[in-house]
This record gives sequence, C-alpha cells and structure tokens, in this order.
Amino acid sequence: MSLIPKETVDQVLAQADITEVVGDFVSLKKKGQNMWACCPFHHEKSPSFSVSPAKGIYKCFGCGKAGNSVQFIMDVEGTSFPEAIKYLAKKYSIEVPEDNPNPEYAKEQSERDSLFIVSDFANKHFQQNLHTHEQGGIGMSYLKQRGMSANTIKKYELGYSVDEWTDLTDAALKAGYQQKYLEATGLTIAKEDGKKYDRFRGRVMFPIHNVSGRVVGFGARTLKTNDKKSPKYLNSPESDIYHKSNVLYGLFQAKQAIRMQDMCYMVEGYLDVLSLHQGGIENVVASSGTSLTEGQIKLIARYTENITVLYDGDAAGIKASLRGIDLILESGLNVDVVTFPEGEDPDSYIQKVGDTAFKAYIKEHSQDFISFKTSLYAAEAKGSPVKKAEAIREIVASIAKIPDSIKRTVFFRSCSLIFDIDEQVLISEYNKMQLQDRQQPKQQDWPEQYMAPPVAEPEPEKPVSDLDMLKRYEREIVRMLLNYPDRVLEEGMNTCQYMLEQLEDVEFRTPLYARLMELIKDKLCDGNLATAEDFINHPDQEIRTEATNLLSDPHELSHNWETHHIFVPTESDLLPYGAERAVLRLKWRNVELMIKGEMEKLRLVTDPQEQIQQLTFIRNLKTLHCQLGDMLGIVIG
Ligand code: UTP
Ligand code: MN
Repeated sequence: MSLIPKETVDQVLAQADITEVVGDFVSLKKKGQNMWACCPFHHEKSPSFSVSPAKGIYKCFGCGKAGNSVQFIMDVEGTSFPEAIKYLAKKYSIEVPEDNPNPEYAKEQSERDSLFIVSDFANKHFQQNLHTHEQGGIGMSYLKQRGMSANTIKKYELGYSVDEWTDLTDAALKAGYQQKYLEATGLTIAKEDGKKYDRFRGRVMFPIHNVSGRVVGFGARTLKTNDKKSPKYLNSPESDIYHKSNVLYGLFQAKQAIRMQDMCYMVEGYLDVLSLHQGGIENVVASSGTSLTEGQIKLIARYTENITVLYDGDAAGIKASLRGIDLILESGLNVDVVTFPEGEDPDSYIQKVGDTAFKAYIKEHSQDFISFKTSLYAAEAKGSPVKKAEAIREIVASIAKIPDSIKRTVFFRSCSLIFDIDEQVLISEYNKMQLQDRQQPKQQDWPEQYMAPPVAEPEPEKPVSDLDMLKRYEREIVRMLLNYPDRVLEEGMNTCQYMLEQLEDVEFRTPLYARLMELIKDKLCDGNLATAEDFINHPDQEIRTEATNLLSDPHELSHNWETHHIFVPTESDLLPYGAERAVLRLKWRNVELMIKGEMEKLRLVTDPQEQIQQLTFIRNLKTLHCQLGDMLGIVIG
C-alpha cells in the first residue's frame, strides 16, 4: 500500500465537495438545507439518503451508511482509504506524489504499471481488430451469431485477435512497448531460440477487468466449434497484475447493480455473464470455470451478502462445485442455488426462452443451498441406510460452516424435515464433529464461533446496564459539542467552554466518548474550537463514523413544517436550556453510579471508624443526587 503524504490528504479533503462527489453517482435534489436522493447502497423507492453540503457529509436514514467524501468513495467503489484519496485527487487534479522511501517498492510499482499499460494497449488493439481489421468480420459474425448486441460488445470491450503469428507483438513493439512487459503479461510467448509469437490468435477476446476497471488479463474463445487440438478457451497466465483467485469476470460492470439489488448472480462462463447482462440481469459475475476462492467471495462481500449460484444442468458439475459453496457459507454469506435443465447453461437457456421467462424461472427455482444440497443427497440415499448416514454427515458438515448460530438452527430444522430424521440426531452429529475438530487442532484452526453450542439458548433479554445508560447521556453531551461548539450560551461562554467547565471532574466511561472528549479538550487547550471537520476527517474510522452519526440530525427530516409556516423551535433555539439539562442529567447519573460503588465498598469495611466516614461520604453523595434531581425536576420517592 502506498503512503500518501498528509498534506495531499488534507488538500483532497479540503477540495472534495460532497455534493459533487456524491453527484457523480446519484442525482441529488435540494430540499431544505440538504440534498436528497435514493440511496446508492440499498434498494429504495423514496429518498432517504441525504447530503449536507454545510457539514460535508452524507447519511442514509434507511440503511445507516454515513461519512464524508472519502468514506463515500470507499463505500461506493469498495476501495481502501488510499485508493479513495487517489480517486478524489484525480477528480480535483491534485497531484499525488509517489513518495515511497523504498526504491525497490517504487520499481515494483512502476513495473506493475507497465503491465497495466501494455494490457490496455492490447485491449484497444483487439477491439480495433474486431471493428476495422479485414479479419474482424469473422469475430463479429461469431458474436452476432451468439446473440451479442453492439451495446454488449462495447460495454464489455470485446475484441478479436487476428489469425497471424505476431500481429499484436509487432504492433506493440512498433508503438514503443517493451517486449519484457508483453511477455510478463503472457500476451507474447518467447521461445528459447528468441522467436516470439502471440499467445492469442484467431480468437474472440474477453478482457478481464479488476474492480477499478483496469484490464488485467484476457479470456479468448476459439471460433472453431470442434477443434480437439486447441482448447475452447485460452486464458492469460497469472502475472503480477492478474491473480485468478482474486478476480471475478464482469464484477467491474456489475458492481453497481449488485449493490442496488443487494444480490449477486454467479455463473461459470464469460458468455453466461454477457447474455444475462444483455437480458437485463446486470448483477452477474463469473468465476471463469475455476472453483470459487475465498478471495473472490471477499470481493463480492464488499457489495452484498447474498449470492445466487446459477448452475449448468449436469450433476457431475454440481457435485464438483459444492466445495466452493461451502466456502461461501463459511464467510457468512447467504447462498441460493438455481439449476437448469440437463444440457443447458444460463446463456443457452436465456437465449432459448427469453428474458422474461428466464427471470421467472430463476425466481421459481431458486432454493437455499442447504436445502438444495440436502435434497440432492436425499435423492441419492434413498433406500440405503449407509448412504443416508454419509449424506447426513455431508450436510451437517456444511451447516457447521455457517458462522451464525441462529441460521444454523434454522437449517438443522429444515434438514431434519427433508430427511425425516430427528433434529437432535443432526445436532449430536454436529457436536461429535466439533469434538473431533477440537481434538485435531492441526487440521484447521476453527474460529471461535464454530465451537459454540449448536442450538444457541436464546439469550435472555438483558436489562439496560448502568454503563449503557450512562453511554446515552455521554453521547448527548458529545453530540451537542460537535454540533454547536461555538454557540454562545450565556455571558460570553460558548457550548464548548460551558460544557468542559461544568464537566471538569466528570470522567467519561464510554471509551469512544472519552476519546472524543479528550480530543475536544486538547483542541481547546491549544486555543481552538474543535470543528466538525476535525472529526469527520479523523484518521480513526471509529471516530469518523461516530462523529458523522452525531452530526447528522434526523430532525431535519421533518422540514416540511416550515413550508406550512408553523414555527417549531429547533434544538438550536433551545440550546442554552438543552445544554444545561444534558450536563445535569449526566452528572445525576454519574452520582447515582458513584453511590452504588461506594455502597459496595461499605460492605467490605470492618473498622467502625472507617464505616462512619464512608457512610457520611455516601450521605453527602445522596444529598447531591437529590439536588441534581430537583434541578431536573425528577421526583424521588
Ligand atoms: P464452458 O465450457 O461451460 O463454456 O466453460 P461456456 O461459457 O458455456 O462457453 P461457450 O458457451 O461454449 O462459448 C465455462 C468457463 O470455463 C472456462 C471459461 O471461463 C468458460 O467461460 N473455460 C472453459 C476455460 O477456461 N477453458 C476451456 O477450455 C473451457
Ligand atoms: Mn455456454
């Protein structure tokens, strides 16, 4: 990860305008002080996603996502902090110096860049071939025959590699690209005698993009329908920029739709992706023939927790993919499965029945993975007790992978119904498995949650603890401090000065709020008021998130009062009163807790002299508690 200098980060933060940044992704409408849109992070019909230009933040009152410009890019693009900064820097033409002190690293970076650049050249070259080369028509008519529209061809940047030995290599060298990068990406193959030739010849080219849209490799389909000598698809080899286990075909084009639908369809082939996308199912990606990896699942998990796997119709293929699906379960995602009639894959099926019938089909045939697997094995095990026992073990093993204990319970129940077998039998099988796993720690390091008892006792509803209670009052103080730091309350004192003075002796018990208070105090000691930006742009994620939440005022939702000319006093109008109450309430709670604590201590004191001292102290606290209660108008019986 490259280190971006703090000055650059600051410059980006200062220049990035939240409405411009968000406006690139959704269309905002002004209503009151804020701008509103339908949330880009979840599906909704009426806007609950708000942007506050004044505060520089966004917040969705539907799904709770919130943050500043950088956070928005991180969320919407699924990228890291430095990547988001780079994105914004590019948008605002701010130069990001590559100031890595390690020259090895810098060299590596520029090597990788060279691989990206040469892949991009090849991608453009292949597309140009398809559209203008004299051989391009062969590729084009193949794609047309497979039902691909001009739009799909353009969106997925499909191309063609002409049937000559060195077409691409020659063009690239002529344009000044170095041979070593052509070789490193696998585009050119060099033999020991120095002869070199193109890897891809006479094939339709499918560029493979990473999530940020850069080409990292290619899949290439032969046009010959039954040529046994060469494989149907040739793929780029692994390289410094192409790690197959961390790439999903089509994710770049699908990610927005995946987030909006909160679901990702998973298919096997390039053409499955293209046909579905063209048919209006845009949230689709392919594993490209390999079994799913953890890295690929993590990629999807950036955008959704729900995956529906669309299988080809043959049973052998299905069995082979079950392992990959266990991996999805393990990462806590929800998996549904749809199978197609024998001999059909998603591409052939949608081409055959059309978009509407296809959508109806997947809706009707989608079932959760555990029931799918259970039925699959149950059918096989019919009449054979031995097979049945094996099948049950298989399924329990899958269920055991689910981190969430409530989900596990549900699946044990549905499995017991399908197999017509007592739930308890499944659970004890599960327990046995857990025990074995515990005895064989080498085998796999099981995360803690799998060790938990299978059927979770429903947790008794906990009463709100003292600390939870206190947390609410501490939060209220910090909220006011962040929202109205410089409002003058009385006799020239602003909120910040007033509260810090009043709460001088009060120690915040919630670590997060204690830290925020510390930050505010530090600032004031330096002679400055802490501003909202200090917190929204704070390097610590926890602080950023909480500050954003505290700064988003849900009361603004009801701004239509104003349009009816009804005067509703705002919090700001009532601040002097509100601030005083908040301080009193926190003190009142604190004293109450102190009394509790001192009573505990009293029980341990044996020396009569000390007992009396302790009692006096408690009595004083009680008096203080009553006084505070009086001021708050609380009547204590
Ligand atoms: P399929 O054989 O199911 O191909 O392989 P397909 O997508 O249906 O292709 P068409 O419809 O015949 O054109 C599924 C995926 O497996 C990978 C490719 O990613 C392919 O899309 N594959 C397949 C290879 O990498 N090499 C091969 O030789 C075959
Ligand atoms: Mn196919």
